[in-house]
Amino acid sequence: MNKDKLIIFDTTLRDGEQSPGASMTREEKIRIARALELMKVDIIEAGFPIASEGDFESVRAVAEIIKDSTVCGLARAKPADIDRAGEAIRPANSGRVHTFLATSPIHMEHKLRMTPDQVVEAAVAAVKQARQYTDDVEFSPEDAGRSEPDFLCRVIEAVIDAGASTINIPDTVGYNVPHQFGSLIRDLIERVPNSDRAVFSVHCHNDLGLAVGNSLAAVLNGARQVECTINGLGERAGNASLEEIVMAVRTRQDIFACDTDLDTTQIMNCSRMVSGITGFNVQPNKAIVGANAFAHESGIHQDGVLKSRETYEIMRAQDVGWTTNKLVLGKHSGRNAFKTHMSELNVHFESEEELNEVFSRFKALADKKHDIYDEDLLALVNEAAFETENETIKLVSLRVCCETGETPVASMTLNIEGEEQQAESSGDGPVDACFKAIEKLTETGVELQLYSVNAITTGTDSQGEVTVRVEKDGHVINGQGADTDIVIASAKSYINALNKVINRTGRTHPQLGDV
Ligand code: KIV
Ligand code: ZN
Repeated sequence: MNKDKLIIFDTTLRDGEQSPGASMTREEKIRIARALELMKVDIIEAGFPIASEGDFESVRAVAEIIKDSTVCGLARAKPADIDRAGEAIRPANSGRVHTFLATSPIHMEHKLRMTPDQVVEAAVAAVKQARQYTDDVEFSPEDAGRSEPDFLCRVIEAVIDAGASTINIPDTVGYNVPHQFGSLIRDLIERVPNSDRAVFSVHCHNDLGLAVGNSLAAVLNGARQVECTINGLGERAGNASLEEIVMAVRTRQDIFACDTDLDTTQIMNCSRMVSGITGFNVQPNKAIVGANAFAHESGIHQDGVLKSRETYEIMRAQDVGWTTNKLVLGKHSGRNAFKTHMSELNVHFESEEELNEVFSRFKALADKKHDIYDEDLLALVNEAAFETENETIKLVSLRVCCETGETPVASMTLNIEGEEQQAESSGDGPVDACFKAIEKLTETGVELQLYSVNAITTGTDSQGEVTVRVEKDGHVINGQGADTDIVIASAKSYINALNKVINRTGRTHPQLGDV
């Protein structure tokens, strides 16, 4: 049987970035976009260009660099938004504008303060305007999952007539359940008279843990595009996870009438890259990409797997890019071997300076750590990117004294705007002492909301990767740092977060406020 194609629309760089603290720089977005392109993702939603100058520049840069995937910019159904998104995607080989407007009674009445007639009119106008930039226009009736089906049919028919070729049905607040969401999709496809002129897509949030289930139910009922994110990153409880959808469809070809074009062996690479850049660690028991996803702990399972893999494994770890920890480079590896290996990991340096910077960090690490793995190298790249962008505060030196029965004391020297300053502080533990010393010197007044340490590889010589989340004036910002010494990694992560607080620029949120 000839299978339909299931289009994968990745929104890690847009909806994923809406997770509190997950904002990414332009360079980080480019790295992730390249990894998504290598994985053969069909459409990359690169951002919301009207949100800020930085968002516009990021979408434009991704549109300039990415050749094989379509690059998409989000726009509310507002003339200024659409012009901005249209401009941002202009350099793309293949560019899409995705415009949206809420259609649920609750959103139309309380957020938009618009009548249903006004909503239809604005949606049609938005699609027509977007068509002046590209033939590839997607329309989303926001909060479709709580909209009246009759009204949805009316809006969808009108926007298809206006030129939308993809109709995306979002369950914006994660309220739907699979059998009901699946029938909604089937109903819409059957009832909208011109539905054959558009691809039906779904975009599910995970508030009830049903984002993947709802998306798959929609696919079984005719949806042929799924919007999803790496590691399920996204607003609140996140979006549907790309890796789970792709592997469910690939593994259960007996029940799905479609398949994706994805190179699934790139999944782990993308997953690690996104968690490294955003600091959102993947839980060990997460399907497909969690550390335990392919680990067989119990004796019975191990015995079964050794006799015949199929007894307990429905997928092969290598098919999603899991490799066993492989020693890749050592102390004596040269710059060329380093560069070649990094390009195999899909890390491309923009300049010789950037290569030299990461190479010298690699040499410094190799002096401290005997075995260097791919995970170490990727952490080095993340760290170099964290530290070279907008650094107002730099760590110069840190000394911490800890002794049984004594209060730990940290002595810290920071370079703040070019001037070295020194402070000492005690604390409940070495990390607490260290953060207090940093706060003494910087007086940022941030509130620490999360502190987490993750070992990058196995073994006690592993680098610790620390993520902190701080809050200031209602804004939540993440910081990361890595080092073989976890107190130093902690200091680096806190300083990284403070640099982001200092350099923070205001952004508009796509789904708040009126059209
Ligand atoms: O969740 C949502 O409704 C969205 C739209 C912008 C598609 O993210
Ligand atoms: Zn969303």
